[in-house]
Amino acid sequence: MSEVNIEKELKRQEEITDMLKDILLLRYDNRQPLAFVHTYGCQQNVADSEKIKGMLINMGCALTEDKNEADIIIFNTCAVREHAEDRVFGNVGQLKQLKRKKPSLLIALCGCMMEQQHIAEKIYKSYPYVGLVFGTHVIHKFPELLYNAVTGGKRLIERGYDDGQIYEGIPMRRDGSFKGWLSIMYGCDNFCTYCIVPHVRGRERSRLPEDVLGEARSMVNAGFKDITLLGQNVNSYGKGLDIQTDFASLLKSAAEIDGDFWLRFMTSHPKDASKRLIDVMAENNKICNHLHLPFQSGSNRVLKQMNRRYTREKYLEIVEYAKSRIPDLSITSDVIVGFPGETYEEFCETLDLIREVKFTSLFTFIYSPRVGTPAAKFPDPITHAEKAKWMDELLKLQEQIAAERCAGMVGKTYRVLVEEQAREGVLNARTQNNIIVELKAEPELIGTFQYAKVTEARNWILRGDIIKEP
Ligand code: SAH
Ligand code: SF4
Ligand code: F3S
Repeated sequence: MSEVNIEKELKRQEEITDMLKDILLLRYDNRQPLAFVHTYGCQQNVADSEKIKGMLINMGCALTEDKNEADIIIFNTCAVREHAEDRVFGNVGQLKQLKRKKPSLLIALCGCMMEQQHIAEKIYKSYPYVGLVFGTHVIHKFPELLYNAVTGGKRLIERGYDDGQIYEGIPMRRDGSFKGWLSIMYGCDNFCTYCIVPHVRGRERSRLPEDVLGEARSMVNAGFKDITLLGQNVNSYGKGLDIQTDFASLLKSAAEIDGDFWLRFMTSHPKDASKRLIDVMAENNKICNHLHLPFQSGSNRVLKQMNRRYTREKYLEIVEYAKSRIPDLSITSDVIVGFPGETYEEFCETLDLIREVKFTSLFTFIYSPRVGTPAAKFPDPITHAEKAKWMDELLKLQEQIAAERCAGMVGKTYRVLVEEQAREGVLNARTQNNIIVELKAEPELIGTFQYAKVTEARNWILRGDIIKEP
């Protein structure tokens, strides 16, 4: 499909959006329909939901946080682990009552889970009150799908069409006003053996630099202070584009945009994390001293089985370089415990790596088999209970490391972005290296940069006072 056709397609969707305004008004007795959108999973899904919300608003809907009063309910789902899927099934089950009370209620499910054939079939069979199911590749067609679901009088499932295109210009309503996500690419080509993402998100494709930078500029002009560039593997940005570019260049150009803001990015894949990327981070103040670099396992044998395509040594080499170039660098990571066939000795190599790197924080997961991925067929003799014990051991170690790091921050002053109210009279602020500091302050400061002197560390919770610019 050529660029022109994408424009035409989006124009067609706009026309359907206009028609839907009247159709929805009629359906809901001439009052503004209320839409509830709930997002599961990662920032990629959050960014997709922002598009769905943008389209809903253009259809004349208002957004609500209360599903009990909603006329349209949309769940944007995640398939990364079984637990995530179970939560969705549980919550969809609860909607049955709402639909019974309000037959005009429209229930739609979208996102990564829906790209799996067996899930779409299960929804169709077991949840007859779900009127619309659509996958990650057809978000741009949401107005048309909703139109067909409303006017067609029958249930609709649309999924499985990865046309490899990027639909620039889909309407969007961002959730935040000062902290936001900016997708620079979609999909993933890495096929780690445990992971469902490439199967449900399709092939990797990068947005053009001018589109990304244009959006970044308009976010800065709109007052955004913290922008995270998003992709499953940002380090392979630019592959497949006709022009010569890479992630380090894109990041550098984004950091050159005028304005007082912070730039973050995720996720970096260690196999492609270059020294040049670290140099760009070190040389640009606006790029936060924070690197999210998932290592998954500390054992070379397990890494090979996972198809991660780096070794423990290569991982540590890039970490060492990054630490040497960026003082105060905060490194966070993802780790999987109990990959099929992992032995306790191999798990101990993971603990060793954690001790060596001293991560600021870790996202920790017990391995969860995913239908259709190679690892789901690997022999997996260790029981879940045993894996849970390993996990406890890992969490204890990480808590100790985090507490030590926090204690080392007491007495120091940091520039922070005040983000939200933690509780009455207390606000959460974030340092650029991604550590939360609690401050006693009024909510008017939310969304502003301040200087905070850390006064106290209780385990891994920091408290501080706002001070004048040092
Ligand atoms: N693209 C990112 C990660 C996306 S998924 C990357 O490569 O780092 C987020 C995290 O979920 C992964 O890093 C991994 O730690 C975890 N994960 C993915 N599939 C999983 C599975 N089947 N079981 C347990 N954890 C999993
Ligand atoms: Fe999944 Fe690996 Fe792709 Fe990350 S890089 S999304 S873990 S396949
Ligand atoms: Fe989940 Fe899809 Fe993200 S599977 S982690 S929402 S890409």
